[in-house]
Amino acid sequence: MQFSGSPKSKPPTPETSQQVIPAHVAIIMDGNGRWAKARGLPRTAGHKKGADSLRNVLDACRDSGVRHLTIYAFSSENWKRSSEEVNDLMQLLKHYMEQELETLHQNRIRLRFIGDLTMLDKDIKKSIHHAVELTSRNTDFNFIVALSYGSRQELVRAARKLASKIKAGELNPDDITEDMLADALDTSGLPEPDLLIRTGGEQRLSNFLLWQSAYTEFYFTPVLWPDFGGAEFKAALQDFSQRERRYGTAE
Ligand code: FPP
Repeated sequence: MQFSGSPKSKPPTPETSQQVIPAHVAIIMDGNGRWAKARGLPRTAGHKKGADSLRNVLDACRDSGVRHLTIYAFSSENWKRSSEEVNDLMQLLKHYMEQELETLHQNRIRLRFIGDLTMLDKDIKKSIHHAVELTSRNTDFNFIVALSYGSRQELVRAARKLASKIKAGELNPDDITEDMLADALDTSGLPEPDLLIRTGGEQRLSNFLLWQSAYTEFYFTPVLWPDFGGAEFKAALQDFSQRERRYGTAE
């Protein structure tokens, strides 16, 4: 098997097939609301079904040799939704973590969160802190949840970190490198995504991993997230496997 990935990507577990497996997959899970509306159900029912899709896709990732999965669970802009929907999404997330944490830990999965977590309620923060601590020494798989996340906001936080080092006389502006900026992001230490999947038919990034996806391959599908499962994920991997990645070089 050949391995894909940016120079920082870790190769996945070897298998016998010739498919190129992305080390890091990022997903924009779109279409929950439309899935629910088509069935005359409340939006929350779509999010609940979306949580089932997430379980299936996480399993499919691990089965196929992917090593890192980043999901866009809740964006900075999602705070503008009705307080009822925001509350439902937060409760669903808390419930998901409580229900899945033991299994995630047993499967040696490390949970990480990216985003502005200061915005979250105390009880969610507590659950997150517990989950991150418990799984911090797991090395088989990284499961990264983007929560209250916006890429521009993340870049502003990174700029502020570097600016305060300059102010303290610890850093010269001319010495700032790409690696330094990458290290100041929430995703510090993680490889860049090789493949980004967006379900639900829209073809845009919506403020997700703007810096990190400079050389990422995109896969857009009209399938709504609650209908996205193992078979759809395999189709995305198959498509990725045909791509030729040149990272800006001529060959
Ligand atoms: C976009 O669909 C989806 C979200 C804003 C939330 C994603 C959340 C889940 C899949 C729930 C499970 C996640 C966890 C971590 C338990 P949308 O509501 O924008 O759909 P629409 O475009 O059809 O309206």
